[in-house]
Amino acid sequence: MFELQQNTSAAWTDIVLNDFDSFLLDHALCERKASATGLGLVSRYPDKTKIISSLIVFAREELDHFYQVYQVLEQRNIQLIPDTKSHYATAMNQLKRSKGKERFLDDLLIVGLIEARGCERLGMISKALPQGTLKDLYLELTRSESRHHSLFVRLAKQYFSEETIQKRIATLAIEESKIISTLPLRASMH
Ligand SMILES: [Fe+2]
Ligand SMILES: [Fe+2]
Repeated sequence: MFELQQNTSAAWTDIVLNDFDSFLLDHALCERKASATGLGLVSRYPDKTKIISSLIVFAREELDHFYQVYQVLEQRNIQLIPDTKSHYATAMNQLKRSKGKERFLDDLLIVGLIEARGCERLGMISKALPQGTLKDLYLELTRSESRHHSLFVRLAKQYFSEETIQKRIATLAIEESKIISTLPLRASMH
């Protein structure tokens, strides 16, 4: 399991609630990118047959989340925008080691860590929203996201020892907390 080394500041929730349309737009893009990441792993590791089915299911779930958030955007007459560069994702991807088995492990665990951060933040939003359909949606998304970070640890266990995984998670979690602490709080997922 992933234990985040640093919790998101409560101030972030206020920033999001004060500009929820901007947050929704960024959140939608994150869900679409998560789905693409799942399929990217399928295409990068076609020989890892023990995890392909799970990755396809993951990609489908994230695509469904994208659809659900897009429905909210549509109701609010908000158009999608071209992809914006995510400093968080870029910095996280730079943590990946370059080759072989190490790269494969990092490809899985870094998605898991990004999922853990996403789950934490969606949980904060779902708690803060007033009763209503939007809160219900965010509660449902949080429940779904809470399964995703542990999924990537389970997938890694198909190919790596518990010790190798836990050692790498500990290192990556510290690096992730450093990255998150350098980013300004914005009405976006990261
Ligand atoms: Fe999602
Ligand atoms: Fe997810």
